[in-house]
Amino acid sequence: MSIVSRERTSTGLATGAWIVQPPPPGGIGARVHGLDPRRVDATQAARLLELVYEHKLVVFEKVPLPPSDYIAFARCFGEPQIYFQPNYHHPDHPEIFVSSNVPENGRKVGVAGTGRYWHTDYQFFDDPLPLTMLQPIRLPRTRRETSYIDMQRMWRELPADLRAALVDRKAVHEAKWRYKIQATDIDKSITEILEEFGRETPPVRHPTVLRHPVNARELLYVSEGFTVGLDGVGYEQGKDQLAQVFRFCHQPEHVHVHTWCEGDILLWDNRQLMHRAGDTPKGEQSTSWRIGIYDGLPFYTNRPDGARPAAPPVLPGHGNPTAC
Ligand SMILES: [Fe+2]
Repeated sequence: MSIVSRERTSTGLATGAWIVQPPPPGGIGARVHGLDPRRVDATQAARLLELVYEHKLVVFEKVPLPPSDYIAFARCFGEPQIYFQPNYHHPDHPEIFVSSNVPENGRKVGVAGTGRYWHTDYQFFDDPLPLTMLQPIRLPRTRRETSYIDMQRMWRELPADLRAALVDRKAVHEAKWRYKIQATDIDKSITEILEEFGRETPPVRHPTVLRHPVNARELLYVSEGFTVGLDGVGYEQGKDQLAQVFRFCHQPEHVHVHTWCEGDILLWDNRQLMHRAGDTPKGEQSTSWRIGIYDGLPFYTNRPDGARPAAPPVLPGHGNPTAC
């Protein structure tokens, strides 16, 4: 049974009367009950961010928010991102990335079926997205979930031969194979579309093993969705080694499934987790609002000496309560 602690009395780190339920030992995902997301001050925001870095995923229970409050809550943890493809934007709030198969007033809004493969957000850019916030808006009737894999655990438990293949190496990440066709692509050939998107999102390289900027944890940073090769390794060999790594990671005992509940908001650390959206059952409706958040820290702090970064994290955006 998980320990339940009241933040006000047990740790003295926060002033709110919300309750934190940590995950079971070795697990991921804390749950926060009783938080009023419209009244989060800087101290509370810093404590909540500590929970995210510690437990990798935090679920705020029963806190449904309209768009402007939702964006303000995200701003407690950093700077909301404007996604680089406008067809994903909420019509009135570009900070909100809409995943939806439900038209609004006869208009298509957002994009359906996003992220149904293992990935971390923005892995294919030089500045990947540190945090992701997700608010399910319309829940499918029969299946409603997002799945996660703990990449700290994966690096720790990866078989020795695969660790040896990845250590001190960079991986190549690319988005073009996940591009979703838009209305403006009509009359273009597949080759033109791929070339155009490939120019916008050229391949990038990141270390296969990251060092977290806050807790110095070592984290495996490859995904089946976006990682296309290993730098300095032949194409076939790299593909084969990555396939073995993914087979290891994707084993059911490594997957944490979060089932959406009405009114919950999720916040997770993309450095430490990869995730996959669940399929929406045929004929059912699904809408979720995502906000990407830059927390103001480097995505990773790999250093040749392997030392823990000396500087403590500077939490961005605090001091003007929204709250924050
Ligand atoms: Fe995602």
